[in-house]
Amino acid sequence: MKTLIKNARIMDPASGVDKPGEVLIEDGRIVEITAANVHTPQKSDRVIDAQGAVVAPGLVDLHVHLREPGEEYKETIASGTRAAAAGGVTSVACMPNTNPPLDNLAMVELVFSKAKQQGVVNVFPIACITKGRKGEELTEMGELQAAGVKAVSDDGEPVASPALMRSALQYAGMLDLLVINHAEEKSLTENGVAHGGFMAAKLGLAGVPRSGLEIMISRDLLLAEETGCRIHIPHVSTAGAVRMIREAKARGVKVTAETAPHYLVLTDECLAGYDTNVRVNPPIPEASDQAALIEGVLDGTLDAIATDHAPHSRREKEKEFALAAPGISGLETSLSLVLTALVATGKLSLLEALRRMTVNPANILKIPKGTLAVGADADIVIFDPEAGRVIQAKEFVSQSNNTPFDQWKVKGRVLATLVAGTPVYIDATFAGNIKK
Ligand code: NCD
Ligand code: ZN
Ligand code: ZN
Repeated sequence: MKTLIKNARIMDPASGVDKPGEVLIEDGRIVEITAANVHTPQKSDRVIDAQGAVVAPGLVDLHVHLREPGEEYKETIASGTRAAAAGGVTSVACMPNTNPPLDNLAMVELVFSKAKQQGVVNVFPIACITKGRKGEELTEMGELQAAGVKAVSDDGEPVASPALMRSALQYAGMLDLLVINHAEEKSLTENGVAHGGFMAAKLGLAGVPRSGLEIMISRDLLLAEETGCRIHIPHVSTAGAVRMIREAKARGVKVTAETAPHYLVLTDECLAGYDTNVRVNPPIPEASDQAALIEGVLDGTLDAIATDHAPHSRREKEKEFALAAPGISGLETSLSLVLTALVATGKLSLLEALRRMTVNPANILKIPKGTLAVGADADIVIFDPEAGRVIQAKEFVSQSNNTPFDQWKVKGRVLATLVAGTPVYIDATFAGNIKK
């Protein structure tokens, strides 16, 4: 099976390429990248006319909640991977806070096999750090890694004990397995439902102080430094966290970090309407934090942008603010939010924005993804970065449409998404561009 993508603007952050050309795919892999009009379309089984649109590596999202097993009413591997495809995402790392949690071989194998049968993008299950996510006893990380696990996390819950976290880093470090700790000091955060600033006080919402997040991040940085082990900080949301990570990197600590699109486009002003769709952990902080996060994305302190796609049902969101489940369904809006907030504003070039959503997260997970290199799997997104669109929550492919971005006017339309050379998402406006 040969597929030709012609009239492409090829953008590959891994090699720094940004040029017009063609991509030839054979048996699921990229076999050739050439200048424009080199190949005879008749020689290919399928021809995709990109009509000048960007052809880039499919996005890699290293922080996604697929909810299966146990919470299939929110999302499934089938629906979540289709939402990913609609968002231009071809690889997701899914968090183990399922029911039961992914803390043993059987559960991880279940996710792998369901993903193979029912998923349309690549799924990399993240296993738990501790059994039952209880923070008491480490999982069998060696066995989990042998099954294909690339990272461990108790996401949603921190590993509270510094001693256990230190052991986790050492054990995972021996295996070169990535540790991702949900950074929250529960004694400071457990009653909070919003960022503990002026807005929360004004609205009568219990606040989460920055220290409730930053104490845990500083602890983890100290442990990573002392043990020499690798750590990844998820959903970085505050200026202090960016500063500490920047300083730790400068000292040579093996730390990587991600932030999420919602922190780049919202500030706690969004709390004013008590929209439960803005309830998320960690909470949306202030404009000064947002400025620091953007600075962190620009200077590389924050290596990756990951959605923390956290689907919740309508029933769990249609509650008073404090009782609503925290989380934002993010897979179908991330590319557009990044294009709108960082690229259209001239803060970041398109290639550099894509770097933070492709090769950087792939490198953090140590997976051979996020590149258009010859020989790589043909995981590809075709998108128009300039096209304007209005986000329609009710049209989400995800089973849950808990987004604060409904009706937002944004830039960027995904035209098609390919996994191993096969189209897994085709925008209605683009269907005519794919022949055979
Ligand atoms: C996540 C979820 O719903 O699983 N919620 C969230 O608000 N981010 C958990 C998490 O990422 O900590
Ligand atoms: Zn988390
Ligand atoms: Zn999460």
